[in-house]
Amino acid sequence: MTALQPLPSARARSPAVELAIVAPTFNEKDNVAELTTRLEQTLHGIPWEIVFVDDDSPDGTAEVVVELAQLRPNVRCLRRIGRRGLSRAVVEGILATTAPYIAVMDADLQHDETLLPKMLARLRQGDLDIVVGSRYATGGSIGAWKSSRAAMSRWATAISRLVVTADLSDPMSGFFMIRRDAFLRAVRNLSGEGYKILLDIFASSSTPLRFVEISYTFRSRRAGQSKLDSAVMWEYLMLIADKRFGHILPARFIMFSVVGLSGVAVHMASLGLFYEVVRTGFGVAQTIATLVAMTSNYWLNNLLTYHDRRRRGFRFVTGLLSFYAICSVGVVANVGVASFVFHEHYRWWLAGVAGAIVGTVWNYAASAIFTWRGR
Ligand code: GDD
Ligand code: MN
Repeated sequence: MTALQPLPSARARSPAVELAIVAPTFNEKDNVAELTTRLEQTLHGIPWEIVFVDDDSPDGTAEVVVELAQLRPNVRCLRRIGRRGLSRAVVEGILATTAPYIAVMDADLQHDETLLPKMLARLRQGDLDIVVGSRYATGGSIGAWKSSRAAMSRWATAISRLVVTADLSDPMSGFFMIRRDAFLRAVRNLSGEGYKILLDIFASSSTPLRFVEISYTFRSRRAGQSKLDSAVMWEYLMLIADKRFGHILPARFIMFSVVGLSGVAVHMASLGLFYEVVRTGFGVAQTIATLVAMTSNYWLNNLLTYHDRRRRGFRFVTGLLSFYAICSVGVVANVGVASFVFHEHYRWWLAGVAGAIVGTVWNYAASAIFTWRGR
């Protein structure tokens, strides 16, 4: 077989794509055309394409992108159905392009596209893996942010030090340009959770990334709304936990166990209340305490451990029932294992711990499958 040769004529007219811009979109229909126009102006002479990764935006962003793509061969639309998540959208967008250099930027015009040629020129020199747009480097700015959001951003930057050793001034940045081979060194270890893809890449790379920062001013949004909310902050903490401890235990399991420990406290408090104060008799008090603890565990897990798959309304109730059922089996497993260990002549407390671990693992695994299955 002969190797495929570039078509001389085609090559002369449209050289292969050197730079891909990956822009995740959720409800950005009023921004995608403007972004494309601005890129056209600023990327003159560079063979580039843009990949919009749209999570089936209800406002019809994908349709607008498709219309654009009819007029521009370098506009592409990668559509994901039934899924949400900024980081994973970016990862799929990067994997969908063959360009050697990839810029990731928001589609809402808040990132400064005029820096792209400079970023590309830096990467072309070959001594760097990634150029990071930073709001906190000298000369950069967060623009017109409310002080509460500015404080949150600083706080998030501080805890990022738990997982990233590189001295980045803005590890939360969603604006950067990376070499494709450098990205591929990290891709299999990515957590993919949440919003913070840059942090994830730095924390997941098998070799330290050679980087430089360039400053920019975060612009105000022109159209549409920010999707940053409490869920995003929670996902961020889960990302940090996953990167810090995930190689030992999954972040969700740790959270589930912490909730389980809180359940023990709830159990003892209710038991005391009903036995000592209400004076129901021990059997009744213990039964009530068990129900209260299971309910509290369910509520907390639904709120924290499975924040991203939270069950609400009627599904909250059906989820609770399935959780009761699972925990009942968990108790049987717990007592069974503990009794077995005890009869093998181990210490009573060792038997107790063994039972509790088996019960917790069962509850975790079964509820992940039956109660909070990803949709
Ligand atoms: N495909 C997809 N799926 N895109 C999404 C999703 C999603 O679930 N959520 C948000 N986006 C897109 C938005 O449409 C926008 O283009 C971009 O991701 C950023 O979302 P915003 O909601 O505008 O985020 P922000 O402006 O509050 O925060 C941005 O700036 C911060 C500071 O640089 C993001 O880039 C953050 O990651 C960054 O830390
Ligand atoms: Mn934005």
